[in-house]
Amino acid sequence: MGVTFEKKRKIFHLFTKNFSYYIHVNKYNYLIHLYSGKYLNDISKERVSERYMERYAFLNDEKKETMDEDYYFSFIASQFEVAPFGKGDKRNAPFIIEGEDNIPITNFLFDSYEIIKGPYKKERIRFPYVRFQENDVTTLIITLKDEYKKVYLKLFYEISEKFDCLVRYSKIINKSNENIKVKKLSSFELDLPSSGYKILALKGTWGNDTEVEIIPLNHSLTKISDNHGARGFYYNPAIALISNEATLDNGEVYGISSLYSGDFSYEFKVDEIDQTRIIGGFNDETFEYLLKEKEEISTFQTLFVYSNKGINGMSQLMHEVIRKRIMPQTKNVQKDYILINSWEGYYFDFDTDKIISLIDEAKKCDINLVVIDDGWFKNRNSDTTSLGDWEVDNLKIDLKKVIDHAKSLKMDIGLWIEPEMISPSSYLFKEHPEFALIPENYKHPTLLRHQLVLDLTNNEVITNIFRKMIDIFDEYDISYVKWDFNRYLTESYSPSLPVERKKETNYRFMLGVYDLLYRFTNIYPHILLETCASGGGRFDLGMLFFSPQIWGSDETDIALRASIQYAKNIFYPLRSIGAHVSNRKIGSIQDKACLAFFGTFGYELDITKLNEEDKKQIKFFNSLYKDFHHVVEEGKYYSIFSPFSSNYAAWNVVSNNKKECLVYFMNYKKEQTKSRFLKIKGLSPNKFYFNSLTNDIYKGSFYMNVGLNLSCPMDPYFSALFVLKEVDDIRAKLYRKTKQVDGGKRDKLI
Ligand code: DGJ
Repeated sequence: MGVTFEKKRKIFHLFTKNFSYYIHVNKYNYLIHLYSGKYLNDISKERVSERYMERYAFLNDEKKETMDEDYYFSFIASQFEVAPFGKGDKRNAPFIIEGEDNIPITNFLFDSYEIIKGPYKKERIRFPYVRFQENDVTTLIITLKDEYKKVYLKLFYEISEKFDCLVRYSKIINKSNENIKVKKLSSFELDLPSSGYKILALKGTWGNDTEVEIIPLNHSLTKISDNHGARGFYYNPAIALISNEATLDNGEVYGISSLYSGDFSYEFKVDEIDQTRIIGGFNDETFEYLLKEKEEISTFQTLFVYSNKGINGMSQLMHEVIRKRIMPQTKNVQKDYILINSWEGYYFDFDTDKIISLIDEAKKCDINLVVIDDGWFKNRNSDTTSLGDWEVDNLKIDLKKVIDHAKSLKMDIGLWIEPEMISPSSYLFKEHPEFALIPENYKHPTLLRHQLVLDLTNNEVITNIFRKMIDIFDEYDISYVKWDFNRYLTESYSPSLPVERKKETNYRFMLGVYDLLYRFTNIYPHILLETCASGGGRFDLGMLFFSPQIWGSDETDIALRASIQYAKNIFYPLRSIGAHVSNRKIGSIQDKACLAFFGTFGYELDITKLNEEDKKQIKFFNSLYKDFHHVVEEGKYYSIFSPFSSNYAAWNVVSNNKKECLVYFMNYKKEQTKSRFLKIKGLSPNKFYFNSLTNDIYKGSFYMNVGLNLSCPMDPYFSALFVLKEVDDIRAKLYRKTKQVDGGKRDKLI
């Protein structure tokens, strides 16, 4: 049981083995946040008694901020679970509702609660969600009622002992007989009693998709958000709140990640007495919702983990629950594909013969999935046309022949698609101009990459486009789909929504995207889905719910790629990051393979033009994939050096039984001889490991405390993948003897 309610003191305790979260219902029915952090089996009486407030009493001297002249209650000094808006608390508020009187004062007070075993399934309708099973979680649902209007707020807390995490979301229900405007809707508020935190956020742009940004918190309002509608690169919806003392491996870190691909916002505010407030939810810059009588609206879910083992501890908790309870667990994830994608090798310039040669060469290199990227459908020979016309361009490619050929070699075929878009020059646009997301009477809509977005707030559009998808995927035996999204939303006031609902467009668009994804994955569960947005522009848990992998970035040379993958690794499991070996300038095929190995692993170049040596490398890495990729897929991740604060990018992943470990290392700037040791993390200290760097055998404690010796001059972008493999004591002894006798024939051990 991860939730208790102590009736006498009116205290909820949500807990896992490592984490506690205490909420108190005070005498005015405010929900007060008492504590969150390392597990505490009880909360001291003082914390809820009036005496605790004495230290704030000075604030109330003039009794200006008090309730009913109550010396012991202060709006300023309270940590709320749901702060009011328009009352004595002038910090940022999580919910703002406005009635027909145009007054937005909002004051939600405790009404009732419910504790249930398992997740609250009724909410699992429209948004992606954490797929908790019955035994994974206990759910606390707290219902609050607004002081002035008959409007209810439900707060959902799913606490999982098994995954050591908490999931939060909320819902507003209008039971009054007036129309309510929801002007701000959040999935959570978290009030902490002190300051001393900084934020780790991921920001990006095309080609430099993910960068770590450390943002100090001060007394101004800090907002990490996105307003591109259905995600841009700008900010990622995963952030960490890091205590100033924390390091990679020690100290307090909260990981916060939302299961949403649309406009989100996280607000951070350190107030005048140095308490910290965090609010996460829809970005109120692009969100307003009309809630008519009896209507309700829910938020997306936000996942929280708490670690007192630094950033690495946070990453590990995140990775585990994402792998096991967010990413699809159907058989489409299990396939052992090594793919080759046509994009960087051919762009739009391919035909049946070229793809057949690619298949033949791929077969020789032990690649088993060939993906035909953009360019296979009607007249699509550049990025200016045809989105929406999802019919095979038979003049360019005989898709049946290509598939039959691949199948005869026991290989599979994948296809690219961008279903949320429409080209102004497409037949679809000629037939249905009203399908484009352009407000009526607004000419000259913004074209990005020559295309417009479909109005996915309109069910008719979703159905029409889905029918076209069915025509393709029913007819052709396709095993993989790359679902792209190459522009963001502008002028997004849907032509199909009534005037009073225009401002709901971005929110409803996202629901439309999820609807389309639900339909697709329900009908084709055997198709491996990889999502993408001009590279890694929509990398979030909303997408990972549908697609077990997301293309990491269009940047594939190792210099930027290493930092992009490093940044993504902080929140997302390595196996979710689409990573390919390409022909870009920086790094050899081998260098790129070392790095791509720490993602989904595949290729994106014209292998028919490679020399024999490169093809040998490809075959070598493909065999390594078979032997060791399971470590990347399931293992525990540890960051060693951050490329954002050092000259190196380095990390290691350890298998769950700790018998195998893969290490990645790259340096950026040239360095001359330098004493340089790479301390590996997470091994069994007393076991012996063979390492593929020096072909030596040392104890785990040696690798972890002394480290792998990399003290040599290094050219820029020197990079390597090392394997550490446990060997038993006898082999270790034998190894030592052999080494003494003949200098060692050690490399057979791996
Ligand atoms: C953007 C993607 O990131 C690329 O990999 C490629 O699929 C192109 N779109 C195709 O238009």
